[in-house]
Amino acid sequence: MAPDTAVGAKTPATKLDIHPLKPVGAEIFGLDLSQNLDDDTIQAVEAALNTYGVIVFRDQDLGPAEQIAFTQRFGDVPRHVRQEYALEGYPEIHLISNIKEGERSIGSAYAGDGWHSDLCFTKTPARYLVLNAKELPRDENGKVLGDTVFASAADAYDSLPQETKDKIDGLRGIQQYHRRQAIKQQQREGDHARPDLTPEQLAKTPDITQPVVRTHEGTGRKCIYVNPVYTFGIEGMEEKDAEPLLKMLEDHIVEPEAEKVYRHTWREGDVVMWDNCLMQHEAITDYALP
Ligand SMILES: [Fe+2]
Repeated sequence: MAPDTAVGAKTPATKLDIHPLKPVGAEIFGLDLSQNLDDDTIQAVEAALNTYGVIVFRDQDLGPAEQIAFTQRFGDVPRHVRQEYALEGYPEIHLISNIKEGERSIGSAYAGDGWHSDLCFTKTPARYLVLNAKELPRDENGKVLGDTVFASAADAYDSLPQETKDKIDGLRGIQQYHRRQAIKQQQREGDHARPDLTPEQLAKTPDITQPVVRTHEGTGRKCIYVNPVYTFGIEGMEEKDAEPLLKMLEDHIVEPEAEKVYRHTWREGDVVMWDNCLMQHEAITDYALP
């Protein structure tokens, strides 16, 4: 569960209309993100992220330039290595779509299918992510597909036995972007297949290590920072020992689902923002692609 007060969080001057979600996250009402929000409001949103990890804003009408402007209020916006899926004219925006123009997928399809933290394979992963729903997949009855699920990697760390905390202290997970891309290409060949990484993209995504336990800069909370999508081992540990340890930690973040996972069913106009250290997320790819 989200703590009532995040450790080390500043008390914001602006009070937001916050409605907690279960078991994690919150909805915030009364803000129009397309406006130039004052600093106190931005600070209050940041405090809400520190406390709830993921926040939902409904009924927004946010264009790409406005989305970038809002996101930049919280720090630099890194550009995804796969610039072929950037929204045209906006390299900061990574387009997720199942639409094809001819043979070309206009965006990344099947993005995020598996629990992960975004850009953990880079030295400086994005601090926050802002996902803006413009057009949604639906089944034949009009039911929206493509939910996104969220779970707290900080709560998961807190609830580990002390013995496990001691065991993983100081370990580093090996993050391999190219390996994930190769797996996805095998899974999806001929169906929105992703192009091979170019030499430039490969050069930008060498294998790196990240701490298995990352300290969240806003609150000082410790978070489990390994995931089944990008983490393929633990530095200095044999695979036979690393694999079960990684699986145990990864499962601990999301199981049991009813207690730990918030499932967001999208509406057009939803903007969902999450803290990329405190939370992990997964896209439910239950939509049939054309
Ligand atoms: Fe993601």
